[in-house]
Amino acid sequence: MPFGKPKTVLALETSCDETAAAVCVLEKGSVRALSSVVSSQIDIHRLTGGVVPEVAARAHADAIGYIVAEALKEAFGDEAKAMRKLDAVAATTAPGLRPALIAGEAAGRALALGAGKPFIGVNHVAGHVAAAWLAESGERAMRPLPALVLIVSGGHTELRLLSKKMAFEKLGETADDAAGEAFDKIARILGLPYPGGPELEKMAEGGNAKAYAFPRPMLGSGDLNFSFSGLKTAVLYALKGKDLTDGEKRDAAASAQAAIAEVLSAKTTAALSKTKVRAVILAGGVAANKAVRRAVAEAAGEIPFIVPATKYCTDNAAMIGAAALLRIK
Ligand code: KG4
Ligand code: ZN
Repeated sequence: MPFGKPKTVLALETSCDETAAAVCVLEKGSVRALSSVVSSQIDIHRLTGGVVPEVAARAHADAIGYIVAEALKEAFGDEAKAMRKLDAVAATTAPGLRPALIAGEAAGRALALGAGKPFIGVNHVAGHVAAAWLAESGERAMRPLPALVLIVSGGHTELRLLSKKMAFEKLGETADDAAGEAFDKIARILGLPYPGGPELEKMAEGGNAKAYAFPRPMLGSGDLNFSFSGLKTAVLYALKGKDLTDGEKRDAAASAQAAIAEVLSAKTTAALSKTKVRAVILAGGVAANKAVRRAVAEAAGEIPFIVPATKYCTDNAAMIGAAALLRIK
């Protein structure tokens, strides 16, 4: 690379419904976010109960300038000279909603071109994993490799091996819905607003996780793949046409959450029996869920269990900056 190894980057993330910008620096193998600004489009997408890609793209294009200005100001104070302090500009280029991705990539490329800095395209899933390397000031985030990585987001449910050279090997994935999608769809059945994952977690508090015997799909499949669409259907049929009390809703939420957590934990155990790793990393929006964290931590047993800070689990740009600096492939 003619520009040398970047140490300070401005990163953008617009793959779904968060417009985000961050400034990150590489410090002795871990990454520190000097700023991380996330602007959610949730209010816009609540009207449609989900994300319309063209609507998301327009909202990203409208917001990104302000979000970048805020991230630069927070990191460097004087925004006017801030671009000079950067070594590169990074943005998520895939996977995600195409129109939404293009809005962020175009902005990133334009900023890089204007400042005479290189542009780094980042894979969103690699970004979720890189979030595990984000450390607060004075902290170190040295992560032992190889690691087993469980990525659980609204678009992905995957088990991967992360090698010492920071390269991924896919071990298993979902055949249909992602874990986050299952949370969102089950939340919708329970009448909760979009995005349903965090709302369902709140509703599950105090509920009886054994009240409903929801299925644990693919537990006996013998491979490391997942399937969540049957669970959603089972919840739908169990609750259809019933006028549930608040207590019953809490029980249903807790039971569905337990089913998802148990499948994730069992597949982690199965993956660990087939691989030799020095850490287990849980990443992606669903990693914010406390029941899921507990279940996967338990599956990791004696092996160090690593999960990013909650604010870096759901979509943000600091994780994109971290992936750019760490050069996760
Ligand atoms: O990683 P992310 O922010 O975006 C994608 O790349 O998809 O993940 C969003 C997903 C949504 O499905 C959301 O409902 C879920 O993560 N999620 C949660 C929680 N927080 C976010 N699911 C369960 N419990 C949570 N606390
Ligand atoms: Zn994501």
